[in-house]
Amino acid sequence: MAPRIAIVIYSMFGHIAKMAEAVKSGVEGAGGSVEIFQIPETLPQEILEKMHAPQKPDYPVISVEQLTEYDAFLFGIPTRYGNFPAQWKVFWDASGGLWGQGALAGKYVSVFFSSASLGGGQESTAMNAMSTFVHHGLNFVPLGYAAAFAQLASVDELRGGSAWGAGCIAGPTGARQPSALELEIASIQGKHFYDVVSKVNF
Ligand SMILES: Cc1cc2nc3c(=O)[nH]c(=O)nc-3n(C[C@H](O)[C@H](O)[C@H](O)COP(=O)(O)O)c2cc1C
Repeated sequence: MAPRIAIVIYSMFGHIAKMAEAVKSGVEGAGGSVEIFQIPETLPQEILEKMHAPQKPDYPVISVEQLTEYDAFLFGIPTRYGNFPAQWKVFWDASGGLWGQGALAGKYVSVFFSSASLGGGQESTAMNAMSTFVHHGLNFVPLGYAAAFAQLASVDELRGGSAWGAGCIAGPTGARQPSALELEIASIQGKHFYDVVSKVNF
C-alpha cells in the first residue's frame, strides 16, 4: 500500500509554509501523494497582530488524533530560542492518549526548519524535537548528505538546512524568503523521504 504521508507545519510568518510546498513537490515528483496540514495556533489574535503575523496559510488544521490516519510525517518547525515553538509543544502535549496506546509507534518522521539567522538553532531544534519522536517510537528519517551532497557541502551562498533537514534563513526581520537553493534542498528532502518510506510495508 502506498504510504499515507502528511506534512504538518506551524508557520507564523509564512516561511515554513513555502518550504512545505517545496517538500510536497519533492514527494510528488518521486511518485507519492501528500497533504499539508497546520497545527492549531495558541496565541490570541491580538498578540498575533502585535507580532505582525500575516493571515494563516490556507491549510486544514490537524489534531493529534488525526496523526493515526497517516504512516509518515514531515514536520515543518520554525525555531524559537533554538527549540520548537510552544504551539508545537501544546500540540504534542495532547498526545498522551496516543502515546499510552502506542498509536504512532513505528511510523516515520522527518523535519525541516526556518530560523532568523545562521547558527540560530535549526540543529538544536531538531535535537529537541527528537525526544518527542523517541517517546512515541517514531522512526526518524534524516535528510543526510547522500541525496543532497552538492547542495549541503557548498558554502557559496547563505543557506539554512543540514543533514538534519532542510531549512531556510528568514533574516532578522523575516524579510528574507526561502532561496531557490533552500527550496531545492526542501524538495530533495521530500523525494528522499518518499524514497525511504515507500519501501516500507505499511
Ligand atoms: C519568540 C521567538 C523566538 C525566536 N527564536 C529564534 C532563535 O532562537 N533563532 C533564530 O534564528 N530565530 C529565532 N526566531 C525567528 C523565527 O525562527 C522565525 O520568525 C521563523 O523561522 C520564521 O518562520 P515562519 O515564517 O514560518 O513563522 C524567533 C522568533 C520568535 C517569535
